[in-house]
Amino acid sequence: MGSKITYSAINRQVEFNTGSNTLLDISIANSIPHLHECGGGGVCTTCRVRVLDGTQNLSPKTEFENASCQTRKWDPSIRLACQARPKGDVTLQRLIWSSGEVNNLQKELAPNGRAEERPIAILFCDIRNFTSLSSHNLNFDIAYMLNKFYTALGEPILMNNGIIYQYVGDEIIGVFGTTGGTAQKNCEDAIRAGLGMQYALDSLNRTDLKDIEIKLKSGIGINFGTAFIGHLGHPTHKQFSVIGDPVNVASRIQNETKATNTNILISDTVFEHMDNDKVVIGRNFLNKLSGKDDPLNLYELIGFKNMDLQLELQSSMNIMLNDEVAFAKIFYDKVFKLAPFVRALFRNNMTDQGRLLTHMLGGIVYSLSRPAHLKKGLAKLGKSHVQYGVKAEYYPVVKQAMIETIDEVLGDNKSPKTIDAWNSALDFVIDTMKAHAYSQ
Ligand code: HEM
Ligand code: FES
Repeated sequence: MGSKITYSAINRQVEFNTGSNTLLDISIANSIPHLHECGGGGVCTTCRVRVLDGTQNLSPKTEFENASCQTRKWDPSIRLACQARPKGDVTLQRLIWSSGEVNNLQKELAPNGRAEERPIAILFCDIRNFTSLSSHNLNFDIAYMLNKFYTALGEPILMNNGIIYQYVGDEIIGVFGTTGGTAQKNCEDAIRAGLGMQYALDSLNRTDLKDIEIKLKSGIGINFGTAFIGHLGHPTHKQFSVIGDPVNVASRIQNETKATNTNILISDTVFEHMDNDKVVIGRNFLNKLSGKDDPLNLYELIGFKNMDLQLELQSSMNIMLNDEVAFAKIFYDKVFKLAPFVRALFRNNMTDQGRLLTHMLGGIVYSLSRPAHLKKGLAKLGKSHVQYGVKAEYYPVVKQAMIETIDEVLGDNKSPKTIDAWNSALDFVIDTMKAHAYSQ
């Protein structure tokens, strides 16, 4: 009999034959969703686990793993599942559950007890007329609404490589670029997040908030500049902090959206760092912000000029994967109807397989903001598909079934642009998977 891996949080035990498999290989073989953004390369750290028992049964840390442990100051119980190979029983807990959580990992790389200067984009988003809404609604409804608001509007921040920094009353603050990235990328991420937040609010008003007859409006201000990042506070309670003038200015820019009756305002520093051929700018204001001597040039952001692949995918993903089991069922029914001969390749229970697939699709949309990791992950996925018996000529069938499923599930919640975006994204995914699997 083989040894056992016990997944503590989901109370599941799987057997394996000791050999060269990593903990991550064992999760995948048993259809246990386990994030692995870089495909097992030892660099993204999303596969990390806490080993609750059986540390002695794991292979020593690899060079990659040692580097991550030291930079992130992990305690010895944390291991990278893609690097650790078990030789006996191990009990573990997966530490990162959703792609959205991945961004929080950036906070680990902020200095402790002091702050360092970093060039970042800062986004403030506020609910209009919140005070009057609060006085006209029950506290319970307000709490319900705030939770919905924070969730729906937080996603675009996370999907664009940002961190949800703080909630202050009815305000949500996102920061972009705390661990690097070019000024242009950080500004573009913040802009896409701002536009995504507008889509998300619109969809929230049409769905969840419709029943309680509340319609929310928001104002968004975005600024770029050098701020101080670190973990500050009492030694027993240090907090991730972002401080500096660019943060205060971002808040004031948001405030200006009321007086100017605009949805999104960006500062001139964001404007300068953007590829201005990409965005549509509306009115331009030269406004004096409170507490500032000189007036600041502000630009009204309308949207992207051309279809933005990531924004389209992000805005449709939550609706599409709202019922993941139903999505996977429709998809596999279509695949097996189009190509009955591939049915035999699937050994696992199809509900589990469906969960892995939708988990992966969601992960792909999130990881598009970190393309280097995504490419590594897809290369590994392509190679593992060769082992599953998948031939290059099966991919078009899977693509066709996926597009038909997306079209059917989104129903009226799509435009031709949405389907174009998924077509391009699937081409990218499939090309990357195939390039690393069948090249020679
Ligand atoms: C868009 C491209 C595709 C994506 C994103 C994708 C995704 C996945 C994922 C996430 C898994 C779980 C295991 C793992 O992580 O290695 C998987 C397994 C699998 N996929 Fe795919 N896949 C794609 C294309 C295909 C194609 C073209 C076929 C051919 C019919 C196929 C057949 C399989 C099979 C047979 C398994 C293993 C199932 C089992 O062990 O029971 N996939 N796929
Ligand atoms: S570090 Fe393990 S999958 Fe990226």
